[in-house]
Amino acid sequence: MKLMICNSASEMVKVHKALTKAMIEHTLVPVPSYLGEVCNTAIRLNERDMISVEPLLRSINVTPKGIHTERKQGTKALDLFDNSSAEMKLIAYKVEEDIELSREDLLFLLENNEPKSLAAILILGDRVRKETVGDIVDIRGAIEFSNYCVKNCSYCGLRIENNRIKRYRMTSEEILEECKRIRDMGMETVILQSGEDPWYTEKIMVELIKSIKKETGLRITLSLGERNDHEYESFRAVGANNYLLKLESASPCLFKEHHPDGNFEGRLRAIRKIKSLGFLTGSGDIIGLPGQTNEDLVEDLLFLKREGIHMVGIGPFIPATNTPLTDHTRPSLEKSLLLVALARIYLKNVFIPATTAIATLDENGQKRALQVGANTIMTIETPIKYRENYSIYSGKKPVNLKESIELVKVLGRKLPRKIALANKV
Ligand code: 5AD
Ligand code: SF4
Repeated sequence: MKLMICNSASEMVKVHKALTKAMIEHTLVPVPSYLGEVCNTAIRLNERDMISVEPLLRSINVTPKGIHTERKQGTKALDLFDNSSAEMKLIAYKVEEDIELSREDLLFLLENNEPKSLAAILILGDRVRKETVGDIVDIRGAIEFSNYCVKNCSYCGLRIENNRIKRYRMTSEEILEECKRIRDMGMETVILQSGEDPWYTEKIMVELIKSIKKETGLRITLSLGERNDHEYESFRAVGANNYLLKLESASPCLFKEHHPDGNFEGRLRAIRKIKSLGFLTGSGDIIGLPGQTNEDLVEDLLFLKREGIHMVGIGPFIPATNTPLTDHTRPSLEKSLLLVALARIYLKNVFIPATTAIATLDENGQKRALQVGANTIMTIETPIKYRENYSIYSGKKPVNLKESIELVKVLGRKLPRKIALANKV
């Protein structure tokens, strides 16, 4: 296979459109670590199609940064599984040889209950992390700017039927103030997160994105739920960089069960649309939803790989009060960590956060997640007066920058340069 790296995200989008029109088979995949992070998305093509790709590129006036033969990206693994079963060794061999793991392999890893092999899988998650994304832990600040939501997801404390929380909306001025604070702390990305709240019209969001860009230069991640295609296009056109839209479950039945007003196909289409616009795209699932099987969790990993998702949020279910799932149990820390490690081993060169949910599940959750494959942290930068009302689940841990920096230091990992400078670390 060949990997084409473009000079910019907009060039990548142009090539993607032309290839689609010409019906040349291709996929958008995260750039592997050995090719750097030029535009974060590479176009994977079949070798045999290159003969038609070259004239196509000339016709649209594009000279890509490079076209490379895809390399193997194996990680030493067999030494960790000396005392494991033959099946487990075969999987370790595949990891070493960079042979793609199958659905059955992933299920086997997930269902394995030999403690020794479990420990080895977690160590392997960390090895793959080190080799593919390195030691830097990126830290991003989230502003949860509105807790209004029109949807009624079974698990979430912000669901429309929960009338026991105090709803709030931040003004654009308040949001901008927080963005400046985030910039001054040395963070380079702000995550603007809310429930699905149409009060923030396309026009309001476009103006907000423009002023954040102009006044702070921050990279902007949007996490607003589903909007229409035109809105995604406008947000991208004025400079939003990343978009998070979790599928929550890649199994249509389970999705339907927990999203009474959701539309599985529509959400999948939205994720694809977002990706095709050149956003770095985030998605993921919730571990431990009632009715969820290990097969469902494997389906989620396959989906993330198939769609070439760049940021993979996999977090444990935490019960929220005043929701139908308030009495449902949480998954164990071990299972949550195992999924982080599997995501890293299988998806390789992607961002994987040590989620707020795993920090809430266990005092050491975030630290452990960073030790088995995770490489980013999201701090909560919502003003204190609003924070407790952004109660997607109960007891949400207010992850902050100071503690995150400490954690990175304790683990012997590296901070992004600007954060280290601004905080004199
Ligand atoms: N437990 C864990 N994660 C949750 N989310 C919402 N409710 C819960 C819960 N009870 C996650 C969803 C959503 C994000 C904003 O928070 O995955 O995408
Ligand atoms: Fe709304 Fe998102 Fe919560 Fe669903 S998960 S109720 S869309 S905030």
